Amino acid sequence: MLATLTLFLGLPLALATEPQSCSPLIPVTFDSSTIPQLLGQWFYIAGASRYPPHLAELRAVTFEAFSFSPGSREDELNITEIIRTNETCVVRNSSKVQVFQQNSTLVHVDNNDVTSMARLIQSDKDLLILNHINIDFPSLSLSARTPNVSKEHMEEFRAHLQCLGFTEEEVFYTSREHACPLPRGEENADPQLG
Ligand SMILES: *[C@@H]1O[C@H](CO)[C@@H](O)[C@H](O)[C@H]1NC(C)=O
Ligand SMILES: *[C@@H]1O[C@H](CO)[C@@H](O)[C@H](O)[C@H]1NC(C)=O
Ligand SMILES: *[C@@H]1O[C@H](CO)[C@@H](O)[C@H](O)[C@H]1NC(C)=O
Ligand SMILES: *[C@@H]1O[C@H](CO)[C@@H](O)[C@H](O)[C@H]1NC(C)=O
Ligand SMILES: *[C@@H]1O[C@H](CO)[C@@H](O)[C@H](O)[C@H]1NC(C)=O
Repeated sequence: MLATLTLFLGLPLALATEPQSCSPLIPVTFDSSTIPQLLGQWFYIAGASRYPPHLAELRAVTFEAFSFSPGSREDELNITEIIRTNETCVVRNSSKVQVFQQNSTLVHVDNNDVTSMARLIQSDKDLLILNHINIDFPSLSLSARTPNVSKEHMEEFRAHLQCLGFTEEEVFYTSREHACPLPRGEENADPQLG
């Protein structure tokens, strides 16, 4: 009980008292190894945004897993997403990611509409930190190869958020308790999720 309290109380305090040592968000420069490194299963972990439509989405989503597979073109990835919003798990496979090597940008396209544009931020190879750039509002999300990340990785992400001016109340986390069963045929599925 005490440990839990300390954990919950400790997080906002830690954010508030941390010295300002902001490391810049350094985008990954895309090359031929970028797409192979993106392929496969990912879990969305946390995000923050000041852009109202993104904010509404972050608030509604309690679990999201997605998987990138090779698309119809070499600079395109197909995505299968499974998302829990309002207690319901929904599978979506209609969207794609276009990979622009020349300016290291990922563009999320759903039915030919651009839904978001993002830079991939340098981090651990098992993390996917995306900084949305087609909007004038700060927006950062963390996904990972596993449904949870280490304390160190979470702290690294939270430091970036703090540097972008987000407070702890503005950060939305998914939780493993809300995990949806992954679509059949996915590799790397965590048996504990089933
Ligand atoms: C990717 O998605 C498109 C439809 O958006 C589909 O025609 C194509 O077969 C998919 N590619 C693979 C390799 O599944
Ligand atoms: C979730 O429920 C709220 C209130 O019941 C509703 O306004 C919202 O549109 C729902 N969102 C989705 C994605 O179904
Ligand atoms: C999306 O899912 C539907 C239903 O399972 C399937 O018929 C279709 O081929 C899938 N599309 C892609 C691009 O994987
Ligand atoms: C990257 O390049 C693509 C294709 O030229 C363009 O559509 C997109 O707007 C560019 N993104 C940025 C952030 O410059
Ligand atoms: C995720 O959680 C499990 C059990 O709670 C733990 O064993 C594992 O080490 C965690 N993974 C990471 C990357 O922290």
